[in-house]
Amino acid sequence: MPAKKSHLVLPVFLLGTLIVLSACATRPEPGKTKMAPLELEKPAFASPWVRYKGWPSEMWSDYSTVAAVVPSIPAEPIKIEGPITGDPKKGEKLAYDRSRGGSCIACHIMGKPVPPLPGNAGPDLSDYASWGRSDEFILNYIYDHRKIKPDSIMQPWGAHKLFSVDEIKDIVAFLKTQKSPAEFKDNLENPKTRPIPVETRDNFDPFLNEAMAAVDKGKELFGKEGASKKSCASCHTNPEQTFRTWAASMPRHESRLNKVIGVEEFVTRHARATTGDDYLLQSGGNLALSIYLRYLSNGQPINVDTTSAEHKQAIKRGTELLGRKIGQLHMACVDCHTTERGANKWVRGQWLGEFRGQIDHFPTFRTSRSEIWDITKRFQWCNVSVRANELQPGAPGYGDLELTITALNNGMKLSVPGIRH
Ligand code: HEC
Ligand code: HEC
Ligand code: HEC
Repeated sequence: MPAKKSHLVLPVFLLGTLIVLSACATRPEPGKTKMAPLELEKPAFASPWVRYKGWPSEMWSDYSTVAAVVPSIPAEPIKIEGPITGDPKKGEKLAYDRSRGGSCIACHIMGKPVPPLPGNAGPDLSDYASWGRSDEFILNYIYDHRKIKPDSIMQPWGAHKLFSVDEIKDIVAFLKTQKSPAEFKDNLENPKTRPIPVETRDNFDPFLNEAMAAVDKGKELFGKEGASKKSCASCHTNPEQTFRTWAASMPRHESRLNKVIGVEEFVTRHARATTGDDYLLQSGGNLALSIYLRYLSNGQPINVDTTSAEHKQAIKRGTELLGRKIGQLHMACVDCHTTERGANKWVRGQWLGEFRGQIDHFPTFRTSRSEIWDITKRFQWCNVSVRANELQPGAPGYGDLELTITALNNGMKLSVPGIRH
């Protein structure tokens, strides 16, 4: 009946206005959303930090890291009298020695026969004797190329104490025996014809990707009560909806910690402040919850903020870090991961990828190691593999690197957990 209807309209309208008004009263200032509680005092990783079991245990404290620059000064050229008379047999052994920083075969073709799976990040030296270089040039180029070609990705082998002058003389003698183009037994051995690895496995197939079990474990932990008698689910009743895009917007600058944090450190600090659980970085629980939260955002385009002042500064710092030469092998991230340098080439049997395409699948299951690696562990490995001391998880430099590389991946769809060799 019309009379009854008009009778109801006014109270409903009033009630609606009241709800809107009271919502306004508790709504945070414009531009500021409610901040998630975080524990801010304790380290988020197992402290003091010790390198993982099974990784090289050597320390390289004389060389730069992502956290600190140790100056490395290009050596003055060495003068020699007459031709070099080294031992080519010894030189050949040294050139192949993987315990001395990865061996020349990592980037060059050389040797008769060529050792297995040479790389091509450097030029083919199989006929180097015909290049017409003087012995002094070759010696100095290997000892420390930086006065000749400052931006090379090659190692200053002598100046960084990987080989003595006498050992380099043996290597020069060996290179002078390299007179004819290399022959390869098949396409796989030749880095020019070796097929580029393409990851075609379905990462969401639980029979292929062991990390899919972490999605289930993360979901279970989300519903588990912690010391505070609360679970994540007590406060977040519909995570599929609430967190549909959140992980795709990470990492981000956290003003209370004055650094960039990723999903992993958020989980540690937020859980401590809410459920009371202590999911240390690199623990199974942390990985599981981090994978679960990213899984909820799968298919969403990666969308980290690149416009705020904090993020602009962090990306500026991160870009500087990508170009910093670190470790005894004196290599920067850009040396291996940009096409102007090593990317889209082979280092030994490993194909070097570009930054775009590197982030969408982390954490990722590594079949060669039967382990799940989050992005921190990947950074740590890329440090240790150039003989640079890694940083602890949650180190500000890693946050800057993660944000900078993620920004280069904006627009790509999240696909977690990944699977890689
Ligand atoms: C990380 C990759 C890498 C490794 C490992 C490497 N090189 Fe190189 N090397 C290069 C690149 C790239 C060049 C091309 C010129 C340049 O950019 O320095 C080069 C150039 C050279 C040249 C100079 C060629 C010329 O112009 O006359 C010599 C000699 C050489 N390398 C020897 C070696 C020896 C010996 C080793 C092992 C002790 C070695 N390289 C290991 C990347 C590498
Ligand atoms: C006591 C309540 C409470 C518990 C328990 C809780 N959270 Fe939260 N969470 C919040 C509040 C409050 C916020 C900030 C406002 C919002 O986004 O809802 C938040 C935000 C978040 C966000 C978004 C972060 C952001 O900054 O936008 C994620 C993701 C999240 N929580 C995950 C979890 C996980 C995982 C757990 C379990 C380890 C958990 N929460 C437990 C209260 C809680
Ligand atoms: C000596 C060469 C080398 C250097 C230097 C290097 N990396 Fe790598 N990196 C690799 C190799 C090899 C892989 C595995 C193959 C691939 O995916 O490119 C890899 C993989 C990665 C991945 C994962 C790629 C994926 O798709 O799963 C990331 C991210 C990465 N590196 C970041 C860095 C950062 C950041 C730095 C500098 C701190 C760095 N790398 C320095 C060789 C290097």
